[in-house]
Amino acid sequence: MVELSTGLSAAALDAIADLERRVVDADGGRLKLEWETLRHRSGDDAEDVLWWDGDRLLGFLGIYAHGAPTLELAGMVDPAARKRGIGTALLDAAQGLCREREHDAVLLVVPRPSAAGRSLALRRGGRLEHSEHALELHGEPASVPAKADIAVRAATPADQQALREILRLAFDWEPPSTATHDPNALVVEQDGRPIGTARLYVEGDRAGIYGFAIHPGQQGRGIGRDVLHRMCRTARAAGATTVHLEVATDNDRALNLYTSLGFEPVITEDYYALPD
Ligand SMILES: CC(C)(COP(=O)(O)OP(=O)(O)OC[C@H]1O[C@@H](n2cnc3c(N)ncnc32)[C@H](O)[C@@H]1OP(=O)(O)O)[C@@H](O)C(=O)NCCC(=O)NCCS
Repeated sequence: MVELSTGLSAAALDAIADLERRVVDADGGRLKLEWETLRHRSGDDAEDVLWWDGDRLLGFLGIYAHGAPTLELAGMVDPAARKRGIGTALLDAAQGLCREREHDAVLLVVPRPSAAGRSLALRRGGRLEHSEHALELHGEPASVPAKADIAVRAATPADQQALREILRLAFDWEPPSTATHDPNALVVEQDGRPIGTARLYVEGDRAGIYGFAIHPGQQGRGIGRDVLHRMCRTARAAGATTVHLEVATDNDRALNLYTSLGFEPVITEDYYALPD
């Protein structure tokens, strides 16, 4: 019944999308499945656990590394197949895969409305590590005066060191030294000097913004607002009707910025650190 999947076939991706629809129809909100990641699995390692009943997918749990030593687990069980131990079996299998990989922590992502998810995390000895709001913008962002000295361009491998330093200072966090150049990374420049970064992904009618940071010395001057507005316009021009991002629940400053541009909360997600 449990399949440890190395890469995901088109049929498996379709089955996961169908299962996601059934779960969201029943539970509302959204699931943190990160389709961009699922569609581009390298196929080098087993990173997804699927529970099949014949050719019907009843459960899924993906392992997400984001180039960092912290592994995240996110998934779902068919509403009609709950309380049969499928979630526990998926988690057992996924934790087994995590143990074979280098990691510093494993976090289970639980949508806050999911009482079953929370109880599974707690039964496994999970400890609430942090929480994030998922937000979405549908339509045009609120207008913002453009700053003439600010430019946003695609990052090159030569920018990597400067961007790591901005991320380190802005998030008070050491970015992994093994991270490779991301073609979706952007550089924010002021008079040609890098002062900020973000990653913008556009896939079909959806876009996502990640790792958005302005150098602490330049924060609070309206640059973040201008850059966010530009990224939303770029995403819309590329065909996205929805722009998605996530923000820690205690980051009031960023949350206010996003909602004032028109982003609306979709769901709150709790990240539980699981014991090894
Ligand atoms: C969030 C961030 C990208 C915004 O960039 P920024 O250039 O500081 O943003 P702005 O100057 O356009 O300010 C946007 C809002 O943030 C608030 N803000 C920014 N700096 C502030 C400061 N020093 N003190 C208080 N509020 C501040 C303001 O409320 C402002 O809203 P306003 O225009 O109504 O006054 C930036 O502050 C940052 O890098 N923070 C650390 C990393 C982070 O939290 N990233 C977001 C992760 S989701």
